Order: sequence, then C-alpha cells, then structure tokens
Amino acid sequence: RLDLRNIRINEVRKHNSKENGIWVMYKQGVYDITKFVDKHPGGDKVLLAAGGELEPFWDMYTIHKNQHTLDWLESYRIGNLHPEDVKERQKRPVVKPDDPFGYEPTRHPALRTNSSRPFTAEPPFELLADNFVTPAELFFVRNHLGVPNVDVNKFKLEIQGKGVKKPITLSLDDLKKNFKHHTITSAVQCAGNRRAELSEYKPVKGVSWGIAAISNATWTGVKLSDVLTSAGVSADDDSVQHIHLTGLDNDTKNFYEASIPAAQALDGNKDVLLAWDMNGKPLTPDHGYPLRCVVPGTIGARQVKWLYKVTVSDEESKSHWQQNDYKQFNPTIDWGTLDYKKAVPIQEYPVQSAICEPKPNTVVDDDEITLKGYAYSGGGRGILRVDVSIDGGKTWQEAELENIKRPVYKQWAWTLWETTIEIPQDLQGKKFQVLCKATDTAHNTQPEFTSSVWNVRGLINNAWHRVGVSHQQ
Ligand code: HEM
Ligand code: MTE
Repeated sequence: RLDLRNIRINEVRKHNSKENGIWVMYKQGVYDITKFVDKHPGGDKVLLAAGGELEPFWDMYTIHKNQHTLDWLESYRIGNLHPEDVKERQKRPVVKPDDPFGYEPTRHPALRTNSSRPFTAEPPFELLADNFVTPAELFFVRNHLGVPNVDVNKFKLEIQGKGVKKPITLSLDDLKKNFKHHTITSAVQCAGNRRAELSEYKPVKGVSWGIAAISNATWTGVKLSDVLTSAGVSADDDSVQHIHLTGLDNDTKNFYEASIPAAQALDGNKDVLLAWDMNGKPLTPDHGYPLRCVVPGTIGARQVKWLYKVTVSDEESKSHWQQNDYKQFNPTIDWGTLDYKKAVPIQEYPVQSAICEPKPNTVVDDDEITLKGYAYSGGGRGILRVDVSIDGGKTWQEAELENIKRPVYKQWAWTLWETTIEIPQDLQGKKFQVLCKATDTAHNTQPEFTSSVWNVRGLINNAWHRVGVSHQQ
C-alpha cells in the first residue's frame, strides 16, 4: 500500500501493551489493533502477538487464513514494514562454527524463554490445552548444551557394548528400511516442570519452570527393542542391565547421556522408539534432528535427542545427568547434606495435572467458571479422573476427560480435561483459588501441598495445582 508510511520494526516492537497501543505485523503490513483486541473472537490470546508477527500464530490457528479475517485485519492497517526490515526478517540465523551455541535455530516468538544458553523455554500455558498434539514449534525445549550441527548424510547410529553379539552401525536410511515403523502419541515432561511453585515455598536451584515444561506429540520411528534384538542383545544375558543413550551435543569433553533399564528397552510393549518424525515431519533441530529416543512414560531427561550411540551395559550411565542430577531427596535435605550417591535416578513420572485456564488473577464476572488443563501419569498409567475444587478441597467436581486412548496400560499421551463450575453464593464478590488433582489408573493421586514434595533440586513437583482468581458482581 503505497499510500501508507514505512514503519521500522523497532517501533512496532514497542507497541506491545494496552498502554502503548498494540501493533502487529503480517507479511509487509503493520496494523494497530488496539481497538480490536477486546472484540477478538479468540479472546485475549491475540495479545501473544503484540508488537510482533502474526504469521507464526496463524500458521497454527489456520482458521484465520480466510478473506473475511484478512479484510478485517486490513481495516486496521497503519503502514508498511520498512523494506530493510522485511529483508532482515527473511535472513536465516547466523551460523558460528567456533561458538558452542553457533547452530541455534530460529524459535517461535511465543515461547517463554527461561535461559538462552543453553536454550530452555516453555510455550504459553494459555495455548497448551488448545491442542491435543502440541505443534512442534510450540513444544517446550530443554537443552543442556548447544544444538549440534548434524550432517544427515554422514549420520550414523552405533549399537555397541556388553551383550551385543553383532555390533552394528546404521544410517538413517538403514533404520528406515530394515525395521518396522511405529507411530505413537507420547507426552514429554521435564522432571523440573512446576519448579517455580516449589520456590514459592522455599528456594530451590534450577530452571524456573512454570506449568508448561510438558508437551505431547506423535512420534514415528522404529522400536529400540527390534534394533537391539537384531544386534543379538538378549534379556537372558546377565550383563544386559542398562541401555546408555548418547547424544551428539557436547561440551567438547562430555556428550549428553542418560540410561534406561534394559528390561524397558527390550520390551516391545513399552514402545521405546528411535524416532525421526515428530507430528508427521522430520524432527526439528531443537527436538533432536535427525534422531531421538522417545521413552514413553519416563522423564524427559532420558529421552535423548540427537541420539548417535546406544551402549548396552551392566551398569547405569555414569553421566552427570544420570548420576548427579535428576534425583529427588526428602524435604529436609539441603545443599549441605545432599549426597547424590544415596538416591536413585528418577525414571518413571508420578501422576500430574495442572490448570491452563483460567489464568492467575482472572476476574470472573459470571456465575460460573470454566477450568481447562492437562493430566498425565508415568509408566503408561492412564488418567482415571481429574477432580477440581473451588472451595479449597472441601467439595470436588469431576472434569470431562478428552482424548482417552485405550489400552490404559499404554497411555503414553497426556489427557486434556475441562469442566465448568458454578460459583456458590458465599464466593461471589470474593477472591478464591481453583484447584485440580488427578488420579491415575493405579489410583495414585497428587499430594496436597508443595511442602511435602519440596526437594532441594526442585524436581517432580506434582502437588495440587492452585490458581488464584476473583469474582466481581
Ligand atoms: C478466532 C481474527 C489474532 C487465536 C478468531 C476468529 C477471527 C479472528 C475472525 C474467528 C474465526 C472463526 O470462528 O471463524 C483475528 C485477527 C487477529 C487474530 C484479525 C489479529 C489481528 C490471533 C492471534 C491468536 C489468535 C495472534 C494467537 C493465538 C485465535 C483463537 C481463536 C481465534 C484460539 C478461536 C478459534 C476457535 O474457536 O476454534 N480470530 N485473530 N488470534 N483466534 Fe484470532
Ligand atoms: N537430549 C540431549 N541430547 N541433550 C539434552 O540436553 N535434554 C533432556 C532430554 N533429552 C537433552 C536431551 C531433557 S532434560 C528433557 S526434559 C528433554 O530432552 C526435553 O525434550 P524437548 O526439548 O524435545 O522438549
């Protein structure tokens, strides 16, 4: 639109709040949508794009890509993005071979970054329960090192170690051609998910995760059990106890590594995959391109990305991440008394749930409130029930569960849930908490307080999740 002025990208970025005005970019246009946001049929999610691009959001919510919406948007146009900034936006990230973080990819602007080197980020929890399958670009990211630069044409997976009668080296094509393909839907949850709530009780050390260090995807690959069997590995051999999984990311001395029990890896029913596809497309650089191990029902730390080596052993991996991290202690142990040798590595995850809607501090002006969220349990246990309460746990209401897939003993995916509760007379006009707890198919349920699960590393917080809201008459 030649009749409009050119606007620099930095000016757009400053307009990211109701006070400063809300501007967005779409292709070469700049739009002032301050007056539109309250009318947005999708609610205040539109604010996630404030001061930034619409494309990454509309690529996920494709409902927007119709003439009616584009015409509506056009009515708010105030200018054109400056041609130099259009060029700048099209540039790929700069590769720096000598920098340990020289191959970091471009990431979705909505990801909430906890640390940039190594990159750790969670999606906005407001979007998490909108999709049963989390789009890859919004899937939480937990890297311990820089993203490695992998040439897929030279990529090889090595299978070696004790009990391997025929050590093998496989290219990605060999894996794809020689073994049966499987697709599963499986959630990945970081053992540090919800760490920030533990810090509110007593400080802990670690990435300050909110409730969204969890995501759910479909994964396609081959079963690790099939590959190990083809290398002559047998569960009958006493030296076959643990499977070490090594990634290509390294700090020049140490490569990322974790291990899982051989019994799990060799049992085809446990669906441990060597996966190359995520949600039907090749893995993205942040999620392990070209190959990752998906270990359903087990904490994220064991689901090794950029996997290039599988070692069979009679011992657990000696890596830092298996031995000196991802272990839990009782609430009295602090940094002075902590002894990693006395605890076992966390593998299976306990039952978990959290509320994605309403947001903290929401003001409700209706007689009822809708709650939405996720629930998940480790070891393939399904979710039997999610109970929610708005009176501190005196009375409970059962939520509707979505996407329940049977058989329940192989429930690798998460469960999304939703329910609407009436706000009783005595809470009207007041502040109160909404809370949830899930029960899994083994009838394990979540503990009431963070104080009872608090641990100095801030791991596996699965206490009842509470969100403070208020009612306005
Ligand atoms: C729904 C417009 C930005 C998320 C809608 C609908 C319209 C619209 C017209 C109704 C679609 C229908 O029911 O046919 C716009 C415009 C935007 C914008 C003009 C920018 C100026 C965003 C952004 C998000 C978003 C940035 C980010 C997540 C949603 C969602 C719905 C929706 C979740 C509900 C979809 C559903 O009910 O299935 N929007 N939108 N929108 N929008 Fe937006
Ligand atoms: N694999 C490698 N090679 N390097 C890593 O840093 N992080 C682990 C695991 N696999 C990690 C890894 C941790 S702690 C988690 S929680 C998950 O990957 C996160 O997976 P995601 O980034 O795909 O969400």
